[in-house]
This record gives sequence, C-alpha cells and structure tokens, in this order.
Amino acid sequence: MKLKLFILFIVLTSCNDSSTNTMSKKDQNSSQIDRRVDSVLSLMTLSEKIGQMNQYNGFWEVTGPVPAEGDAAKKYDHLKKGLVGSMLNIKGVEEVRRVQKIAVEETRLGIPLIIGFDGIHGYKTISPIPLAEAASWDLETIRKSAEVSAAEMAASGINWTFAPMVDISRDARWGRVMEGAGEDPFLGSLIGIARIKGFQGDDLSATNTVAACAKHFAGYGFSESGRDYNTVDVGTSTLFNTIFPPFVAAKEAGVATFMNSFNELNGIPATGNAYLQRDILKGDWDYKGFVVSDWGSIGEMIPHGYAENGREAALKAILAGSDMDMESYLYIAELEKLVEENKVDISLIDDAVRRILKLKFELGLFDDPYKYCDLEREKAVVNSKENHDVVLDMAKKSIVLLKNEGQLLPLKKEGQKIALIGALASDKNSPLGSWRLAAADNSAISVLEGMQQYPGNELKYAKGADVTVGETAFISEVTINTDDKSGFQEAVNIAKKADKVVMVLGEIGFQTGEGRSVTSLDLPGVQQELLEAVFKVNPNIILVLNNGRPLTINWAAEHIPAIVEAWHLGSESGHAIAQVLYGDYNPSGKLPMSFPRSVGQIPLYYNHKNTGRPTIPAPNLVFWSHYGDEDNDPLYPFGYGLSYTQFEYSNLQIVDEFAEKGEITVKVDLQNSGSYDGKEVVQLYLHDLIATITRPVKELKGMEMVALAKGESKTVQFVLTEKELGFYDNNGQWRTEAGKFEVFVGGSSQTKYKIELEIKQQ
Ligand code: NOJ
Repeated sequence: MKLKLFILFIVLTSCNDSSTNTMSKKDQNSSQIDRRVDSVLSLMTLSEKIGQMNQYNGFWEVTGPVPAEGDAAKKYDHLKKGLVGSMLNIKGVEEVRRVQKIAVEETRLGIPLIIGFDGIHGYKTISPIPLAEAASWDLETIRKSAEVSAAEMAASGINWTFAPMVDISRDARWGRVMEGAGEDPFLGSLIGIARIKGFQGDDLSATNTVAACAKHFAGYGFSESGRDYNTVDVGTSTLFNTIFPPFVAAKEAGVATFMNSFNELNGIPATGNAYLQRDILKGDWDYKGFVVSDWGSIGEMIPHGYAENGREAALKAILAGSDMDMESYLYIAELEKLVEENKVDISLIDDAVRRILKLKFELGLFDDPYKYCDLEREKAVVNSKENHDVVLDMAKKSIVLLKNEGQLLPLKKEGQKIALIGALASDKNSPLGSWRLAAADNSAISVLEGMQQYPGNELKYAKGADVTVGETAFISEVTINTDDKSGFQEAVNIAKKADKVVMVLGEIGFQTGEGRSVTSLDLPGVQQELLEAVFKVNPNIILVLNNGRPLTINWAAEHIPAIVEAWHLGSESGHAIAQVLYGDYNPSGKLPMSFPRSVGQIPLYYNHKNTGRPTIPAPNLVFWSHYGDEDNDPLYPFGYGLSYTQFEYSNLQIVDEFAEKGEITVKVDLQNSGSYDGKEVVQLYLHDLIATITRPVKELKGMEMVALAKGESKTVQFVLTEKELGFYDNNGQWRTEAGKFEVFVGGSSQTKYKIELEIKQQ
C-alpha cells in the first residue's frame, strides 16, 4: 500500500515543472509523461516489467485458438501478481471493473490494465463493414462512424481497439478483405487516417475516445492464393509503394499502436521480423508507440519453422521489436530467463515497457483507472438514437449502384406489387457482418423491415432458399445450403404476380472475416438457381447483394436489369437499403475493390503494370498477355458506381507551375446532367509513362466528393506535387523523375478522359 501511494505521489507531483514553460502544451504533456513513465519504471522488478508486456484474452469470448495454458485460474493468478499488462475481449463496465480492480488493488504496484477489443466496425451499434464504408469514399462520415464506435467502447470499459486494419489486398478470396479499405493504397491511407481520427479524437484521455491500432504489419493482405495466414512473398517496390503507405499514413496520424501479423514476409515471420519492426517502423519512421503481436503469433513462429521452441520464439520476437505478447504466453514464460542469460538486453525490455506505460498515461489510466467504467455513461451512450443515426447515414453512403437499366430504380412509392425474395432479405443477424462481437444477435434492421416502412406498395415476402444450414458463429465454419430448394416454388409464385421483384442474395455475415478464405466467388449454394428460376417468370428484378467481398456475378450482370451492392451494412442495414431503393437517398458509393469476372483472374487490381504485350497485335493471334477463356478486365472496376442521375466531365486542363512552385493544378468541369440531385466522387489517376522502374497503368492520386443539384455544374481542382508524382524504387528510395505522365479524371478507374503532362528536368 505504501508503495502504491508513493507511485501516486510521483505520478502526480512530476506534473509540475516550471522548466517546461516555453514548450508547447503537447510537448509539455509528453515530456511530463516520459518522466512519470521513468518514475514508475524505476520501481519495477524484471518480472513486473515483463508482466506489462503480457496480454491475455478474457475468460469467455475468444477470437483465436486458445492454448492449453490459457486457463482462467492461471490468468487470475497472474493478474494478482502484476504479471498482466493488458487484456482483450473483456467488455462492459462491470466486467472491466472486475479485472481492473485486481490489477489496481491487488498487485504490488497497482498499474492499471489497458483493455483491448476488436471494435472493428462498431461495438453494439454496428456500422457497415469497413470495406463497405470504404465504398462511400466519404472520409468525414467514416470518421464519425469510428467516433461512434469509440464512444460506445470507451463507455463500456474499453480503451483500445484493434482497428483500423490498413492491409491492402488484391484478392477477394481472402475473407479479411471485408475488414480493410480495398485494393488501393491512396484511398486506403485516407480512410485509415479518418478512422484513426475518429477512434482517437484529439485526446486519448477523454472518456469517448480509444487508442487505435494499425494492423497487420505487414503484408498480411498479400497471402498467397488468398488463403488466410499463408506465406507472403513480395518485392521491395510492392512493399514500399503498395503495402507500406497506409501504415506510414497511420503513423503520421498518430496511431497509438501497431499490430504485427501472422504471415511470414519473404521468409521471416512478421512477428520476428526485425527489418519490419526495428529498421522500418521504429527506425526509419521513428514510431514511438508500441507493437502488439497478433493472437499467438509469437508461438506460431515455431510451426512457421523460424524458431525451435518457445524460448527461441520469445527471443526472436523481442529482438525484432514486438513489445506485447497477445496470447502466446511466451514472454511471461521465457523473457526473464533470456535476460538473466544475457540473451536479451534489459534495455529492450525497458524500451517496450516504456512504450506501454506511456499509453497508459495518455489514456489517463494512472490518474483514474476506472475512468472508462461508469455504468450511467454506458447506459446513456451505448445504442443511443444518435449513434444509430450516424451508422444509418454511413450505411446509405456505402451502397454502390452497379446497374440500373430501364430505370428500374428508384422504385415508385405507391400502387406497385413488390415481391421480396431471399433468406437474407429477412435476416436480422447477417447484416451485422463478421466482427460484431458485442452486438446483440438479430439486432439489425432487415431489408423486409426497411421496406415495410413504405406502405404505399403491396409487399409480399418469400425466402426462396436458405444460404446456410444450421447455427452460424464468429468462430466456426459455415455450412452452405447446396440442395434444399423447397422454397423455390413459393418465391416463383409471388414473383409471377409482382410488378417488380427485389431479390436479396449473397453471403451471410460470417462467410467473410478472419479464417474465411474461399475458392469460389459465385453466389453461394442454390442462390444462382433461385435467381434464374425467378427470372424466368419475372425479369423485372432488382438484385440487392449482401456480401463482404467482391463476388463473380457475370450472369446477373448480363441478365438482371438492376443491381445494388449493399454489403453487410450493420444495425441500420434494412433502413439504408430501403431508402436507396425508394430513392430517398441517391446512391453515391464507388467500389473500393475490383469485381472479377472469374476467380481465375485474381489477383486483379486496377493499378497493374502494362506488360510488354498489353494489346492484341493482330486478330486471332495469341501472343499477347491475356486469357483464352476470359477478358482481362474486371466485371466492375475499382472506383465504379452509378447514381440515379448522370454526371458529365469536360474542360480538363492543367496549370503547370511545377518548376516555379512545385505544383501542378488539374481542373475539370463536372455537370449533373440527369434529373436527380446527386453526389459524384471525382477521381484523378496518374500514369507515369517511363520510369527507372515500371509504373502502374493508373494510380489514384486525388479524389473529391462533389454534391450537385440537378442541372448544376462545378469546377473541381486537384493539386499534384512531388508527393503524388514520385515513387519508391527497388531500394526503397523515394524518387521523382522527369518525363511524361498521363492525367486521367473521371468517375471510375476505367475513365479514358485524360490530358498529358511533362515534368522537365530541374
Ligand atoms: C487475430 C486477428 O488477426 C487480429 O486482427 C485481432 O485483432 C486479434 N485476433 C484479436 O482478436
């Protein structure tokens, strides 16, 4: 007790230091925190220090495989001995208070725990899955959505979220594409920043913000063949130009923590990868936060074939710069001996612990360890009407209109007979998506409920067919319904009598996410057959897709007149979809990831290289880079999405002041030439024609969301600098080179509207 009071004394008194008068408030705070951290560190024994580097999962929920050592009795024992620095998957004020109380009141030093949680797209009020949010290209709304998630977590005892995932991926087979921002590093960086700002706000110690975590460092989205946890082998150019940029952006945005990744990168598991963590992250980028391992990833270096046993795995992880061990139980078991044997220098332990304690100070936990544990606040904040309004707004903006032939949409509000078909149409669980650990099951608004809000039409519902069979859950495999078609007839019957048919097909929420890789991207199970059966009796179909990854929907794209990409949109899903179908919201989303025609085209991405044989040299000649049985192009490209109105681009110009000011201004006129008010995401792409290493055919380098009333026009401007024109070479060195560029502007990555630009030698 005496010691705890002493800590409190130094922690509080070291705030008053007149020598810091001339420093900015932020610097003052940070140097005060550094001093307080040092004071605490000086009191700690080696095992207490290592305890801070140890993170345990809670006692009930799991988000990974639990090893035999993970029994509750041992965890409680370690908590009491001050051998735990953080816990994850503990949620709710009461649960958190219970464990925090042990750390604060029963341990020698009373150091509070950081409580981590996978609040990936919401806590109890669930936002659209991150891939869907990315489709909005609306950074401010994405920031607000993260803010809601942070406020609900912080009100529920949590102070650290394992988000945003900023892994770029070009492979829709990988289930975790649902958790990222898609295939593009420029868009991915902006979205990562928006989400970090939303989670962290300006003040980590506020009771409505949480620390964020940029993950998974690095390369996790490039797993071979899209199989989760698989090997990653990429060259320097891909690493620096595609994989790293969103992590750099996250670091610049002040993200509090990084998480490393399960994969090996070019032969070395990321968790034991000193190049990634010590040289790049903590070296070149001078990152001051801490790195948590992914779940059990220190121990997984053994099956990777990189460590012989737990001792060696712990050694490699600490040497490589992994500061906290999530659920491997190896730091706590091995680090002390490794220090005693002089295999690990104590300075490495001190550095890791400093980083961890610093965050505890920044979160305000030393001042009040129970500050996130206010029951009244929890009741007031979680699931509030305001939070639902934010996620509804986010959900509407995440919807992408893929096709609308014959102006089938928007639906008329009166006098129509509408048939609504598909198990997903009445599903209240699936829209919550994959990472929705705190949400109440079946708490989303279904499409059926959303459409019932428009009583002017006659609405009939038939399930048609189930997507899956049996119970579904976050941790277990799903079983697809491949034979039960008993509901087809009822669906066909209601379709026959309808003016229009809305079919909601796709994946259930748990078909994507961690460990959910697939080899087929077709509509799962019997849904394609159902679609075709209904089409035979009534082709006036509006297909609403619910899915967490790009799907191959060639037949639908050819035959179905209207297709709406509605992802897994969270708690307010049905309201958002109905509002778009009925035209109360004019869709404005654009795809953040290419939709392939065939799984065989993967990896498929718009910013690919040209090859030496990009076009057919003469009719019927095979010697060019192509497939004999499929087009090269995607079915729907990155950046693509329609509106109920139309937009026209004209007057593309360049003002080249690169020599004088280092700037090039690109201007284009945009007109809303259709008959609805609407929003367009204006996209700018660059193509560096000749360079010391080959450059992609197009790279997104600018975007702006423009709202225009029907008939209205606006001039949109972008500024290009060395930052947009340059690239990293094969040595990881930044270069801007003189030469010719094409500047493309338009409403998708397939825009052909371009102007040329030449950068002269300086
Ligand atoms: C493993 C996942 O890869 C990671 O993203 C997540 O945050 C942790 N499990 C904790 O649940």
